[in-house]
Amino acid sequence: MSGLWLSGREVREGCLSGEVRPGYDCGRVCVTGLRGCARGFRVAKRKKKQPCYRKILSPQSTQRRNSTLSTALQFAQGDQWKTENKSEKRASQGSGKVTEVINMPEAIFHFPRGFLWGTATAAHQVEGNNTNSTWYAWEESGHTVHKSGLACDWWGGRWKEDFDRAAEAGQNAHRLSVEWSRIQPAPERWDESALERYRAMLRGLHERGMTPLVTLHHFTDPLWVSERGGWETAEIVPLFEQFVRKTVQALKEYCTLWCTINEPNVYAVMGYASGVFPPGKKNPKQVILVMANMARGHAAAYRAIHEIQPEARVGYAWHYRPMLPARPWFPLDRLVRNLQYQAMSESFPSAIASGVLRSPLGNVRIPEAKGTQDYIGVNYYSQDTVAFDLRRPGELFGRRYYPPGSDVSEAGMNANIPQGMFVTLRWARRFGLPILVTENGIEDAADRIRPRYLAQHVHQVWRAVNFNWPVKGYFHWSLVDNFEWERGWTQRFGLWELDVETQARRKRPSADLYAEICHANGLSSEMVRKYCPEVFDQIFPS
Ligand code: BGC
Repeated sequence: MSGLWLSGREVREGCLSGEVRPGYDCGRVCVTGLRGCARGFRVAKRKKKQPCYRKILSPQSTQRRNSTLSTALQFAQGDQWKTENKSEKRASQGSGKVTEVINMPEAIFHFPRGFLWGTATAAHQVEGNNTNSTWYAWEESGHTVHKSGLACDWWGGRWKEDFDRAAEAGQNAHRLSVEWSRIQPAPERWDESALERYRAMLRGLHERGMTPLVTLHHFTDPLWVSERGGWETAEIVPLFEQFVRKTVQALKEYCTLWCTINEPNVYAVMGYASGVFPPGKKNPKQVILVMANMARGHAAAYRAIHEIQPEARVGYAWHYRPMLPARPWFPLDRLVRNLQYQAMSESFPSAIASGVLRSPLGNVRIPEAKGTQDYIGVNYYSQDTVAFDLRRPGELFGRRYYPPGSDVSEAGMNANIPQGMFVTLRWARRFGLPILVTENGIEDAADRIRPRYLAQHVHQVWRAVNFNWPVKGYFHWSLVDNFEWERGWTQRFGLWELDVETQARRKRPSADLYAEICHANGLSSEMVRKYCPEVFDQIFPS
């Protein structure tokens, strides 16, 4: 990594780790200087014998570097100017004259050019009338607070207006999922019209200047697949591969960025341990079995996609849960924290990275899965604290909670713990691959917490980018309120509010904040002051 650093008023050149990547966009590093200046960070030294970034700068990046440097200098001068004006203001107040309007200089955390800014959605949660899937049957049999019904009516065509909203709000990417049960309603039947509809959606994204990221499996299965045992048996692997081949073949004209499976850990734990997702089982041993089959399915899909589209970038979306022991000095808290963390956060990724799924309930060798990822997709929502609790054998004797005093969402589902985002990205970095934040958000109908949650999490993403960790995009969950699984319509994650009865959308203030972030490709002090002044000092400490 290389960089220009601004320390106080002094501009220096430095290099944080000495690591230089070909094509590295050095423009962003200058911004490090801005923050370095604002927070008084020390100036990093370039290690000896490391290549200097100057050697790899393209003419454009040199230009960019220079322009950012001049912004940095302006900032330094502006700071000075601000002080002078402050004293002028005081003087004029003293003499009873009308005070001068002061334009405060703006500080901004820039992101690299080409950074993906989007929102994420999932087929069953937005499409509506998804009658051939396990989730529809689950709702019909009374397992959910509400039914999905029309959802956001994307299958009826309302994706167009929602994509318009996203594009106007400056988003340059969107993550959506396709529904297996629509594309293959029966083992021997493919629905070409469903594929055509997905093609239209992806074309619609391109027409609006947005890059699609397509998820091939997001919690739902066709009924006929679950009748054959779903992910409990390895028989699903060739079935999933066949579906992936058909779908990728049909959509490849519009998409090169694929996510095979969303959150295998959440799918397995909710369906096989807590039993609140279909098939509603409570047998923790099956959690590992299901995740192992998902790893096999992912590996088969990875190879199939690359065969069809060699330039594809394929990964999966992992729900990463940082965890802390409630009492770090208490060995049992540490023990249960480690067990839960291993099962929840490390298991599946270990299979994809090394070919062995490691879990406290046993290890499974899946050699074919080793190395089947081109990027790391992380979904980060909150961080847990774990305490030893004898009454919870089903949860490996650990009670997970948010510490008292946490900034918790309305229904207590998420807590605003932004540093967990940084921890998540630090974890993702170990794989040495590009990283995408494939989901991050909070349920908050009143939009009370969301503006600060958004600003603080984007700030943490920027901190990671600032260290040259290869974070390439951020997808907020979600664009518009959608059907929140077993909790129905009780949890509202949208930047836009949805009236389920009338299908009317109403913009929440967070949508404007996110639009400003996307348009600016950065988070500025003005935005924070405008939308969430209560965290200004945390993000821009003086
Ligand atoms: C899932 C989404 C869900 C969101 C909010 C994620 O774990 O991928 O489908 O709506 O969390 O709970």
